[in-house]
Amino acid sequence: MLVVSLGGSPSQRSRSGVLLDRSRRWLQERGVEVVSYQVRDFPAEDLLHARFDSPKVVDLLQQIENADGLLIATPVYKASFSGALKTILDLLPERALSHKVVLPMATGGSIAHMLAVDYALKPVLSALKAQELLQGIFAVDSQIAYGEGSALAQLAPELEQRLDESLELFFSAMARRPRPLDPNLLNDRLLSARWSI
Ligand SMILES: Cc1cc2nc3c(=O)[nH]c(=O)nc-3n(C[C@H](O)[C@H](O)[C@H](O)COP(=O)(O)O)c2cc1C
Repeated sequence: MLVVSLGGSPSQRSRSGVLLDRSRRWLQERGVEVVSYQVRDFPAEDLLHARFDSPKVVDLLQQIENADGLLIATPVYKASFSGALKTILDLLPERALSHKVVLPMATGGSIAHMLAVDYALKPVLSALKAQELLQGIFAVDSQIAYGEGSALAQLAPELEQRLDESLELFFSAMARRPRPLDPNLLNDRLLSARWSI
């Protein structure tokens, strides 16, 4: 299984990034390959000028095409998801997420914006034709404590449990998802069906 992880925070030290790190480790322990991208890794010029042929964007798209699922995390900015993340999503073709299972996540300073994933991020993921859009995770800043030095960040037990449950659902949804049919295979099947009639 292959999963693409996309982080939407412009900040190097990032709580939404902690959720992605945790998820990556969880999936890798179960044998899933995880390829990670952060908005900060993309050339700002390419994003601001909407360069659809940006090598970094093309690379992301190729990985998404091969992936079973997408993990996407964002900080809540102005009651929505980060603008930096939107500049990347805008460069993906309309069906970029078809056949993919998607787990969206967000962190915010206030519980008042816990629905930002539902009313802001999910409609965009639906527009990209995500096949299965899971319920998603929202965490407030107080539930994620950065570790000192190289120590791992600590999650509040309630958040840790929710995250584990969501990852279980994500993992099983990827395992049972219908694979797109290879057009060459379809041709072969049609040909052999004709001969066997
Ligand atoms: C520019 C900016 C706007 C923000 N707007 C909101 C907001 O509208 N609602 C909210 O709950 N938190 C808001 N926050 C707080 C962040 O969402 C929160 O600290 C988040 O965990 C940051 O994620 P990150 O560490 O991954 O960047 C804002 C923070 C910044 C820097």
